[in-house]
Amino acid sequence: MNTMHESSHPIRGHGRLVGVGVGPGDPELVTTKAIRVIRESDHVVAPSTAPDAIGRAEAIVREAAPGTPIDRVCFDMSVDAEATCREIAATVLIPRLRQGLQVAFVTIGDPNMYSTFSSVATAVRSADPCVAIDTVPGIMAFQALAAKSGTVLLDGVESLTLLTALDGMGPIQSALSCDQRAVVIYKGGRNAAAIRSCIESSGRLEGAVAGELLGLPGERVVAARELDGRPASYLSTVIVPPGSRIRQAE
Ligand SMILES: C[S@@+](CC[C@H](N)C(=O)[O-])C[C@H]1O[C@@H](n2cnc3c(N)ncnc32)[C@H](O)[C@@H]1O
Repeated sequence: MNTMHESSHPIRGHGRLVGVGVGPGDPELVTTKAIRVIRESDHVVAPSTAPDAIGRAEAIVREAAPGTPIDRVCFDMSVDAEATCREIAATVLIPRLRQGLQVAFVTIGDPNMYSTFSSVATAVRSADPCVAIDTVPGIMAFQALAAKSGTVLLDGVESLTLLTALDGMGPIQSALSCDQRAVVIYKGGRNAAAIRSCIESSGRLEGAVAGELLGLPGERVVAARELDGRPASYLSTVIVPPGSRIRQAE
């Protein structure tokens, strides 16, 4: 699969699709470029779970760029993600792009990180390879959490592993075993208790933080040791700073 986006000028009549990252939730974390591209686009589309459900990205755009007309595209990724993206490409995006228009697809965080946009871009590219495809980077949840919790994520020669909890605790345990690495865990809301145990058994609870619904109503930022047995929101992020700092402080 070609995952590189074409940033060339569109061939006349083939339009431009732009994946626009709108940050984790706080409308003040939407970049000036994102707002400009949203305002300049002929159409703005936002993912949603139902025609009458306002998705996260749409809610952010409503606050950051009030008055922008937004078309919802419904995703049921549990059915067949590829088929869903192909259908959205064929019925919503390609007809507009073939008129030579610019379509902004807004997405939370960054469009190149765990985003539906990459699947949508692949479907559009295979339907019409002449469409130009670009992205506008967005601030990610872990950056917002580092700022909110006053956590220095990396320094000196430290490195970062960003992973999801979708493959269970094995990959998380193995990332935590390297002391020089900060570890960021996405999509772990359902497994909050297991993640806490993993961090504890690696001796790295000190300084680890969890953020839920960052920048959104109901936001919660807590020390990871306070994660209890209850599942957190799907929008949950955990940061475990490099363990070598704990050892140095001891
Ligand atoms: C489908 S991924 C989207 C990632 C997004 N493209 C990005 O760059 O941040 C969803 C995951 O991102 C994290 N996330 C996104 N927004 C968040 C928020 N407002 N608060 C906490 N975590 C968030 C959570 O780990 C969530 O499970």
